[in-house]
Amino acid sequence: MKSAAQNNLPGTPKSGGNLSGLTSQVQRMPRVRNVGGASVPRSSSSSSRRGPSHIQLPFVAVTFAMTVDGKVTTKNYSAVDFTSREDKAHLIRQRALGDAVLVGHGTMENDNVRLGIPQEALRQERIARGQAPYPLRVIVSNKGLINPRLKIFETDFAPIIIFSTTRMPRPTREQLREKATLYLSQARRVDLRWMLQELRYDYKVKHVACEGGPALFRSLLEQGLVDQLNLTIAPFLFGGKNAPTLTGTDMDFLPRSVRCSLKEMRVVGDECFLRYRVRKKR
Ligand SMILES: NC(=O)c1ccc[n+]([C@@H]2O[C@H](COP(=O)([O-])OP(=O)(O)OC[C@H]3O[C@@H](n4cnc5c(N)ncnc54)[C@H](OP(=O)(O)O)[C@@H]3O)[C@@H](O)[C@H]2O)c1
Repeated sequence: MKSAAQNNLPGTPKSGGNLSGLTSQVQRMPRVRNVGGASVPRSSSSSSRRGPSHIQLPFVAVTFAMTVDGKVTTKNYSAVDFTSREDKAHLIRQRALGDAVLVGHGTMENDNVRLGIPQEALRQERIARGQAPYPLRVIVSNKGLINPRLKIFETDFAPIIIFSTTRMPRPTREQLREKATLYLSQARRVDLRWMLQELRYDYKVKHVACEGGPALFRSLLEQGLVDQLNLTIAPFLFGGKNAPTLTGTDMDFLPRSVRCSLKEMRVVGDECFLRYRVRKKR
C-alpha cells in the first residue's frame, strides 16, 4: 500500500516535525510515523480554536443512529442492523464531507468496516470541492491491540492513520506499519486534541467525519471537541441498561452537560434525521 506521502496528499507529514508558526507552549513534539520510537502529545491545555497564535482544530461532525430509547447497539455490542437504506446513505453522505473519517477501535473491531465511499457521484463531488476522492481513514486506540487482519487493511484507496500509544505491542506495530501511518504517544491515553491538531497540521484536515462509537464520542464531548451531531432516531426500542447509549455505558455524568441547538430535522418514513450544533462553553 502507498504511504500518505506517496499519495501526495496535501499536508503529508514531514519528517522531523516543523516548529514554525507555533508558540512555545504548543510546540510540536517529535512524533513518529511508522514507529521506530515514540511520540509525545504536546500540552493541550494552552491550545484553543481561537487566536492567531493557537492551533486551529478541524470541525468535528459526529454521526450516529440510535433507537427511540437511546441505544446505539445491543448489550454485547454485536453487529445489529436497525436502520434503513436512507440512513446508510445518509452516513455515507456525511462521511463524504470529511477530509478524514474517524472511528474508535471498538467500532472498527465490531463493525469491521472499510470506510470507503461506494458512490462515484459522491467521489466526484469531493474532487470538485478540491478534496481527495476518499477521506483519510483514522482509527484511535489507547491499548493498540488492533487486528491487522481487519478488512480496512485489505484496501488501499485512502491512507489509514492510527493514533495510539506505545502500549501497542511491538509485533502489532511491525504488522500495522506496513498498512498504516502510526502516531504513538507515550501517554496512557491518546490526547484527542493533539490528534486533531496533528490531522490539521500534517494533513490539512479541516472537517472530520466521526462515526463513533460511543466511548470515543464521550471522550470528544468531555473535551469540548465536537461541533456537530448528526443523529438518526430509528423506530425501535432495545431496552437493557447495559446496552450503550450515544455516550456509552459510563455511569458517570459528563463533567458538564452539553447544550445542543437543533439546526435541521427531516423525517423519512419512520426515521427522524436531526442535525444539532453542539454549543461550546465560553
Ligand atoms: N448506532 C451507531 O450509530 C453506532 C456508531 C458507532 C458505533 N456503534 C456501535 O458501538 C459499538 C462500539 O462501541 P465502543 O464504545 O466500544 O466504540 P468506540 O468508541 O468506537 O471504541 C472504543 C475504543 O476506542 C478507543 N478510544 C476511545 N476513546 C479513546 C480516547 N480518548 N483515546 C484513544 N482511544 C480511545 C479505545 O480503544 P482501545 O480499547 O483499543 O484502547 C476504546 O476502547 C459497536 O457495537 C458499534 O456497532 C454504533
